[in-house]
Amino acid sequence: MIPNGTLTLSADPAGIALAADLLRQGLLVAIPTETVYGLGGDARNGEAVANIYAAKGRPSFNPLIAHVASTEAARRFVTWSDNAEALAAAFWPGPLTLVLPLRPDHGISSLVTAGLETLAVRVPAHPAARALLSEFDGPVAAPSANPSGQISPTTAAHVLSGLNGRIAAVLDDGPCGVGLESTIVGLSGEPALLRPGGVALEQIEAVLGTQLHHHLPGDALSAPGQLQSHYAPDAPVRLDASTAQGDEVLLGFGPVDCDLNLSAKGDLSEAAANLFAALHSLNDTGRPIAVTPIPDHGLGAAINDRLRRAAAPRNS
Ligand code: TXA
Ligand code: MG
Repeated sequence: MIPNGTLTLSADPAGIALAADLLRQGLLVAIPTETVYGLGGDARNGEAVANIYAAKGRPSFNPLIAHVASTEAARRFVTWSDNAEALAAAFWPGPLTLVLPLRPDHGISSLVTAGLETLAVRVPAHPAARALLSEFDGPVAAPSANPSGQISPTTAAHVLSGLNGRIAAVLDDGPCGVGLESTIVGLSGEPALLRPGGVALEQIEAVLGTQLHHHLPGDALSAPGQLQSHYAPDAPVRLDASTAQGDEVLLGFGPVDCDLNLSAKGDLSEAAANLFAALHSLNDTGRPIAVTPIPDHGLGAAINDRLRRAAAPRNS
């Protein structure tokens, strides 16, 4: 435990300088990104990375994403390719993670890759994350800043509700704009979708001029550690509902009568940005949750992926 609890830092130059200093000391700092808050530690420091796993209670077979300030910084750690260049040019900085072969002398802790020969890298777009990464001037390993298996955090308050006292600080810069984790594309073999997320599949395929292979949870080649049950509220979640039954609270999309609406005007980007905060607040009611159908195109595919896992039978 952190003796005096977790510090809340503002995303101003002083807060960012202190956050970079804590990272240099091998301590953990939760950082805002455009997708969700990440639980950051120096990706080259094995002890810091081990503490990320410990703070989250995460199974150690699940590798982490290394966050860097720029494409040039990413290229120091992984073997680059034409597809990587095309996707980075189109979507970085932004909610896209690329999995590429590690370069020799990469210096990344093997706890980040969980022993794989590939590394997941991402250049986030959030101004505070970018400022911190430039100030720190090194790779920051950052899974979502929530206890393993629980709902991802899109505010500093969500981070503190799960991790207060387990990490040195949280850099608070308000709610995350995209609200869903990054899309993960594997480029170490045939281009493959490893996790749907903040950049729609259709946009990625348009840039690559080819369809992606799909390796989703349950498939041996999917991103490792994508446990079926994830993003789980305490109460049961029921999908494709038209009305609430019994004690349920109804989470809606579009013009429906419900307790909480992800986007009354039926906008998938707005729904993505609201998803995790809605699950956190419905979870606080202690009642079972029912969800109305959400279209499966664009960001809807990633929203439905998260909801299916929130509704999946629990691991424990
Ligand atoms: O938006 C995001 O990606 C957020 C923010 C904080 O950047 N981070 C995030 O990290 O979602 P996390 O740890 O919750 O999810 C990382 C995913 C996992 O499913 C993991 O299996 C996959 O990335 N992954 C990491 N390294 C990999 C690799 N070398 N090969 C395949 N999948 C990998
Ligand atoms: Mg996560």
